[in-house]
Parts: sequence; structure tokens; C-alpha cells
Amino acid sequence: MGVMNDPLTTDLFPQALLPVTLQGATDLEGFRRASRALLARQMLPEQIVWSSGDEATRDLFGAQASGEQDTFHYLSPQEFAAAPAVSVPPEFLTLCQAAILHSDPARFGLLYRILWRLAHEPGLRHDPLDADMMRAQQMAHAVRRDMHKMKAFVRFRSVQDETFNTHPEGGPLHVAWFEPEHHIVEAVAPFFARRFAQMRWAIMTPERSVEWLNGGTDAPSSKETGADAVMAGLRFGPGARKEDAPPPDAGEQLWLTYYRNIFNPARLKVKMMQKEMPRKYWKNLPEAEMIHTLVAGAHESSIRMIEQPGSVPRRRIPVIPIADVTHTPVSAFTQTPDGKAMKSLSAVRQATEHCRECPIGECATQSVAGEGPVGARLMFVGEQPGDQEDVRSRPFVGPAGQLLDRALLELGIERDGVFVSNAVKHFKYELRGKRRIHKTPTQREAAACLHWLDDEIRIVQPQLLVALGATAARSLLGRPVPVMASRGQIFEREDGLKVLVTLHPSALLRLPPHEKNQAWSAWLADLAHLNA
Ligand code: URA
Repeated sequence: MGVMNDPLTTDLFPQALLPVTLQGATDLEGFRRASRALLARQMLPEQIVWSSGDEATRDLFGAQASGEQDTFHYLSPQEFAAAPAVSVPPEFLTLCQAAILHSDPARFGLLYRILWRLAHEPGLRHDPLDADMMRAQQMAHAVRRDMHKMKAFVRFRSVQDETFNTHPEGGPLHVAWFEPEHHIVEAVAPFFARRFAQMRWAIMTPERSVEWLNGGTDAPSSKETGADAVMAGLRFGPGARKEDAPPPDAGEQLWLTYYRNIFNPARLKVKMMQKEMPRKYWKNLPEAEMIHTLVAGAHESSIRMIEQPGSVPRRRIPVIPIADVTHTPVSAFTQTPDGKAMKSLSAVRQATEHCRECPIGECATQSVAGEGPVGARLMFVGEQPGDQEDVRSRPFVGPAGQLLDRALLELGIERDGVFVSNAVKHFKYELRGKRRIHKTPTQREAAACLHWLDDEIRIVQPQLLVALGATAARSLLGRPVPVMASRGQIFEREDGLKVLVTLHPSALLRLPPHEKNQAWSAWLADLAHLNA
């Protein structure tokens, strides 16, 4: 629960800072209750200085807590209980659950400010471009990524502790050391409890440690472990030092041998390896020590592989004679209205995955093909996937996609009923530090990708294409299109298909705040043709 300072000070000097201390870095319940009470008292966001017991917190504007914050519980439990519940969109709660685990001490101030604004600015929930909302979403994204990395990179080492000496049938204790960026240990621990339900394990981090008490021969199976049982079986404690983690064991040698054997030099993609296994995790990964040697020797190993005499592969997938394509399953081919066999969307998706007709595919994580139902009336075409699309292999799921979703909602169009795709199927970027910055594809690259888009159009057979931005317009109309001069207009292609040209949603995201509202209305006006 939140702990606050003397109410009198705040009442007499409404602008005085009010320190609020939560019970810990991840005290979502305390944050919710305190926020509710603060809102009920009309406390302005800039008056609150949040801290979480184990972090010294600065508010968003750099004001420092006074240090007296643990003096008064100035809202009684009754007052807390009586504070009116604030109605917020369910997505905001989900956002809070993740963002509150971020290591930035400003997160509480930011979330309270959004809450305050949701209560006082009804338009906020419909504003996908709001800077506060976008910052909170970035925080939530970073937290989820950190959780994903922890699940992937924790490496246990086995220790034969005292319990093992007396009860060897319980198995050795497995201990791991990990350094997360955010406060995620509690949130990720249930994953390990389910995954390693039968094992005795503990994970140590600089901030928290966690032990699974149910491991051993009598441990329940993962199916039996409901959320409460899992939480009850976990014991959390303070952080530890790396020196407390055990040294390598024999199991690790086995893992290293396995890693060395599965390393395929011919499929080496250093950039992708570094992206999936960022350098900051290497120091705690046993296999990381081998990476330099394996990468350095990759070229020679590939040559040795190439020079080896060929062997005939065992073919598991029967070859489909071309003449038989009409009898093949729909997942591979589909039929046009005139009865000709044609690739299906899943075949296009798979083929784009291996496409190297331009250099972009080599650096992307995976391809991002179009998505939506065959026969959709509308097909939206963007430029190329962005960072989030590349990771999730789905078009328009990042910030630009959220804006598109918002527009569709305003226009009463179901996203699930439209087809959404891109002119280019892989993410082109340049690395700046750890960030992958979008790079516009060249005309040549877009031209190389065009046949995939043509395939999608042939399969989906939309009635109206929507070109979002210049790259899409050029690919769909086969000529350079001045988007600002052509926006809101419908053009006809040689094959009779109609194309509505408008701005790419990213263009709106880049505008200065004072221009956003007007640009949003103008964009909606362009898109209103879709309902005509
Ligand atoms: N921008 C695009 O053009 N396409 C996407 O899928 C995402 C962002």
C-alpha cells in the first residue's frame, strides 16, 4: 500500500510535493490503491514524488523526494477503500502490469500521469499518438523483451548441496545466475516453475533471488501446478553476488558439445545471432565463449562441408508433378475462378522466407507476408515491416499498425476482415548502437519484391487497394506517385483494380504535436472513401 506524507502540508500548500512510497519495485497493487486515493483527492501528477522502498525515485520533472516520506499513512484503510474506482480501458491495466516492472524510476509518475489524464481528458484513450502513452508502451515492450531473454538465456549449473548428501534421491540443486535489466524475477519465475517442475532449482540475480521449493521426487507435474500452487512453491529473497553462483559442471560440458555440434557454419548469420543473443548476455552463457572461435572458423568449415562428397538426401516430402497441382491440398495451392492452379497465401509466405532476390532478406529476422482473409474487400499496402513486425512476423503490429487499427476502428472497419500487407517483405534497417533504425527500401529492392505482392493480390482478389505512402503507391501503380498531391484520390490500374492513395501512418507519427490532430482528421477523411 502507498504511504504518504502529512495531508495538512498538502492542503495548505497545494503545490507542495507529496512523497508516496510503495512497498517495492513491483508493487502494482500498492500503486493502484495509492493512485485511486490520489485521484480522489485531486492530487496533480506533478505534485507526487514516487518511490518504491528499494529505489530512490525522481519524478518526471526531476524533483527529488524530501526523505520524510515514511512518516504518515495519511489515507486510512477506510479512505482507501472508499476512494472511487476509476474506470480505465482494460488495455491500460495490461500496460501497467508490464510497464511497472521497468527499471526507470520515472515509471510510476508516468503511469499516474496517464491515469490522471484518462480521468480528465476523455480524448486521450482515442489518441494513439500521445507521447506519454507511447513511452509507457515502449517500457512495456522492453520489459516483455527482457522476460523473453531471461527465459531463453538462464543456464542452470548443478550443485550437490547438503540436502543432496542426505537425500540424494531428491536430485542435485540447479542454480543459475542472470542479470535482468528490469524488475522481472517475480514475473518470470512461474515460467521456470512449470518448465522445471521436477527439478530443484534457484535463480540468483543482483536484485532478487528465487528458489523452487517443490522440486524433487514428489514434485507435482506441471499439469497439476495451477497459478496459486506455483506461486506457493516459489520463495523469493534478496539479490545475490555473481561470485555466489556455482562454477561450471559436467552437464555444461555436455551442453557445449551439443552447441558445437549443432552450429552450422554454412548458415551463419552473425547479425541475427547477435540480435537474438545480445552481447550483454554473453558473459553468463557458457556457449558464448565458443562463439568467437566458431565464427572465426566458419568460413573454413563451410569450405570443408562443400568439398565433402555429396550424399543423396532422403526425400520426406513427395514431389508434386506440375500436372497434378489441381489435386494438391489447398495449403500449397489454390484455384483461380478460371480453374488454374495458383500458389496459396501460405505458399507465398514460405517462399518469401527464403527470398534473397535483394540483399534485405539476409539481415532481417524473418519475412513478413500479408495477413487477412482471401476475398477481403480491402487490401492495405504499406512500405515494409518495421522492427516489431520483423520480430513477430506480422504486418502492421507496431506503432504504425496501432494507428492503422485506430483509424479502422473510427471508420467501423474490422481489421480481421481486411488484408494487410507491404510492398517489401523484409525489414530493412541500419544499426545505431543497439537500435535498428528503419531504412527506406530502394526502388530496385521494392521492384524485386513486387511479384510477391502481385501473388497476394491475385490470391486475395480485393476490390480496392489502399496505398499507404509513396513506396506502396509506386509498387501498386507502377509509376512514381506524388503522395501529397494524390492523397484521397482513387486511381485505376491497367488490370482495372482501383487504388486509393494516402499517407503512410508513420508520417503522422513523425509530425510535431501541434500538427497531429489536423493531420489525423485529414487522414481519416482520405480513408473515408473506403466506406463509400
Ligand atoms: N510500416 C509498414 O509500412 N509496414 C508495416 O508492417 C509496419 C510499419
